[in-house]
Amino acid sequence: MTDFISFPFYDLFQENGHVPQIREKLPPLLTGVRRSILEIGAGTGLITTSLADWTPAEIFALEPSAGMRAVLLSRLSARPELLDRVTVLSCDALSVDLDEPVEAMVMINVMYALEPDYRRRLWPVLADRLEPGGLLVFTWRAGGPPAPRPLQELESRRVGRHTYTVLSEVLGSDGEAFEARYLYRITENGKVIDEEEIVGHAYRPVWEKLEPELTGAGFVRADAPEGLLAWRLA
Ligand SMILES: C[S@@+](CC[C@H](N)C(=O)[O-])C[C@H]1O[C@@H](n2cnc3c(N)ncnc32)[C@H](O)[C@@H]1O
Repeated sequence: MTDFISFPFYDLFQENGHVPQIREKLPPLLTGVRRSILEIGAGTGLITTSLADWTPAEIFALEPSAGMRAVLLSRLSARPELLDRVTVLSCDALSVDLDEPVEAMVMINVMYALEPDYRRRLWPVLADRLEPGGLLVFTWRAGGPPAPRPLQELESRRVGRHTYTVLSEVLGSDGEAFEARYLYRITENGKVIDEEEIVGHAYRPVWEKLEPELTGAGFVRADAPEGLLAWRLA
């Protein structure tokens, strides 16, 4: 696993990336959720603490990566009042086992990491762990995988005397999968002092694929703002 290369960069950029949009669009969907939420792929907890702020629900924050979980637990320990309400689960989504079905599930920026066969097997598992009428919300982008494009800077942030930069390139796509190359670069006075590369596959299923997977698992589509899909278990 080479993803650990990106961990030091994660919070630096995500607070300026998808997180503000999610913090605007997600709370209205969770109105009325009071008992329990499973967050799948909680990462470093950027959304987890918000879920706890928006709702009185008990939260199960599932995060299989030990590196991400370390930051998540560090974030939670800075909010001691949340520690009796947030349980951190170290398994992956397909292996989730809960004492009782949850009221809602949230999966933010995780779909890209799920291989198609894994994803297809996931929906029935989630349906089994969700209460009848329960809510499933996740991020989704229409249009399938991106077209190949050359290396470009995604974002850059100063940290003391260093500048942290992430660059990415789309190498190619095949069906719903695409191959991307990321460079994680640290510079000082314009000189590169550290640079590491990750090349990997990501997935962007089109609606025509996704919709039958979810309805086949017993979900019915509900209203959600652009960038999010919401479903109710029938
Ligand atoms: C881009 S991060 C998003 C983190 C967080 N949801 C956020 O929005 O900041 C994707 C997360 O999904 C997790 N992930 C990847 N595959 C997973 C799986 N099969 N089950 C659960 N989580 C997974 C990764 O470990 C990573 O922490």
